[in-house]
Amino acid sequence: MKNYKIAVLAGDGIGPEITREAIKVLKLIEERNDVTFELMPAAFGACAYFEFGDAFPQSTIDICDQADAILKGPIGLSHEQSKTIPIDKQPERGALLPMRRRYNTYANFRPVFLPKALAHFSPLKPEIIGEGIDIIMVRELVGGLYFGSKETGINEQGLRYVKETLEYDEHQISQILHQAFKLAQKRKKVLHNIHKSNVLKSSVLWNEILDEVAKEYPEVEVIHQLVDSAATNLCLKPTQFDVMVMENMFGDILSDQGGGILGSLGLMPSACIGDEKAYYEPSHGSAPDIAGKNIANPYSMIGSVAMMLENSFDMAAEAKNVWDAMQGVFGDGYSTADLSKPGSGVKMISTEEFGDKVVEKLRQMPR
Ligand code: NAD
Ligand code: IPM
Ligand code: MN
Repeated sequence: MKNYKIAVLAGDGIGPEITREAIKVLKLIEERNDVTFELMPAAFGACAYFEFGDAFPQSTIDICDQADAILKGPIGLSHEQSKTIPIDKQPERGALLPMRRRYNTYANFRPVFLPKALAHFSPLKPEIIGEGIDIIMVRELVGGLYFGSKETGINEQGLRYVKETLEYDEHQISQILHQAFKLAQKRKKVLHNIHKSNVLKSSVLWNEILDEVAKEYPEVEVIHQLVDSAATNLCLKPTQFDVMVMENMFGDILSDQGGGILGSLGLMPSACIGDEKAYYEPSHGSAPDIAGKNIANPYSMIGSVAMMLENSFDMAAEAKNVWDAMQGVFGDGYSTADLSKPGSGVKMISTEEFGDKVVEKLRQMPR
């Protein structure tokens, strides 16, 4: 019997609602397999700040340090509410970025997936979806503008100024590129390299290193695309992409666009992988506009569990069953409010009902 410790950080806003559904799935996985999960809940995000004065308190750090994997709900407050917390203590700067840095989770995998049968979820025309969208965005997660040196003050002209630097070294670049090439090798052997080398020196270095790393993966075709043009292509011809790799900020923006072309950020799970530790979280935020209403889509959180099963616990077959169970619920014509627009023919269900239906489907699946 395997026993895994999972730190469960439900987070803010819709976090606790979607985490509850993900835990139902984990419990069923336990029942169906020779495995036990020791769930270790801990405060993280604005909720932790209000309780402990720290968005990533020491007690949570200790739990995360011990855990075999971390399941994290979204954190953060609305724009107005955020102002009630000092800027460096806000959950993004005070918890999320410190966690990424602490565990050096440099590789962020964000699947953008929509089968042809669910083309009606997307704002794109069915002919653009074609046989379906199946992209994995590989986002560098611990470098770039997010972690470069920062300076604010008053300049010589007496004006308030800010300086933020986009920094990468060759090791940071090559380690994420290796991850992307390895994934491309397992999939369609095509890698879209997204950059801005016509302006940014960081992209010039990135591409130089890519040419070196590419020699180790001769069977993978590399296609270069400038990030602005890639944004257009995601709307006009998303099916051209399979694996896309990019630096931190580009990945932040394009992955939310990924959610947009699917029809909802609720369809965006993710895995944040380091060499020693991994954590799993939806790509989206705490959705303060719909929090507490039992209408959020838990797909992103349950999908993050599936990614955890595969990456941290070597349970690829059960991970696939979880994906299939969720697709099965959609296949039966159900979804949460984000994807059931009036006239779409989709039957609207709550967060909780979605989780229950996934569990029901999974229960029927052979192991
Ligand atoms: P958001 O991603 O929270 O929401 C954007 C839109 O998508 C909203 O209309 C929301 O209702 C919808 N949405 C998001 N997830 C959904 C789901 N599962 N089901 C249905 N609809 C969903 O972005 P925002 O409003 O710009 O940010 C809110 C807060 O979240 C901010 O404080 C931000 O910093 C934080 N944030 C945290 C993370 C994270 O924890 N990794 C990621 C992104 C944003
Ligand atoms: C994400 C989020 C975070 C990011 C924020 C909340 C710091 O938008 O995970 O995509 O920008 O990385
Ligand atoms: Mn983001």
